Amino acid sequence: MAQLVRPAERYLASFIEALHEGYNRDTLRPETPETIAQVEADPMAFLQSQLNPPETFVQPDGSLGRAVPWTPLWWVEGDRFLGTVHVRHELSETLSKVGGHVGYAMRPSARGQGHASAALAAGLDWIRANLPLTRVLLTVNPNNPHSIRVIEKNGGVHTQTIPHIWRPGEQALHYWIDL
Ligand SMILES: CC(C)(COP(=O)(O)OP(=O)(O)OC[C@H]1O[C@@H](n2cnc3c(N)ncnc32)[C@H](O)[C@@H]1OP(=O)(O)O)[C@@H](O)C(=O)NCCC(=O)NCCS
Repeated sequence: MAQLVRPAERYLASFIEALHEGYNRDTLRPETPETIAQVEADPMAFLQSQLNPPETFVQPDGSLGRAVPWTPLWWVEGDRFLGTVHVRHELSETLSKVGGHVGYAMRPSARGQGHASAALAAGLDWIRANLPLTRVLLTVNPNNPHSIRVIEKNGGVHTQTIPHIWRPGEQALHYWIDL
């Protein structure tokens, strides 16, 4: 049975396999042969970056941003990496527009099997158990019906639609889930 865990060494080989399969760590920035090679060159350093996330990060426009505290969680079955649920503990100004508290992605071969719906449900349980949040924001692109369904199945309520801050001409739907 699949479960939500902290990243660990036993899943690294499968994580790298997922990168080659088409899993992207960031929905706004697809992996390239170079980004994958970087993880492959030093998987333990990558693991450390997941367990102790850096305080700054390069934003989609190339500028350096302050990272809010966040926890990466991996959805796994046995030693197989299936996908991620990333939990942001608070909202920055940009996350309150695009990104929200929770982001998730499944590797291509794990899609269409209910994994994202179950992983988000487990992620919400993790938040209930570990953070003082009473509700969480999720943002999604209107042309991502599967993700919208995942959010709605987990109790998401659509509150507003705003212009996407990183993709001119596109929109971001805001959904809130009461915990
Ligand atoms: C969006 C994403 C997370 C969905 O993951 P998933 O594991 O396939 O989702 P689920 O299996 O839980 O399915 C969710 C809903 O979408 C539907 N769905 C999923 N894949 C489908 C497909 N290929 N064809 C038709 N419907 C599909 C399911 O039927 C389900 O609805 P239902 O329960 O009412 O039937 C996955 O496609 C992904 O990782 N995409 C890239 C990253 C991304 O977009 N992340 C979200 C950013 S907001």
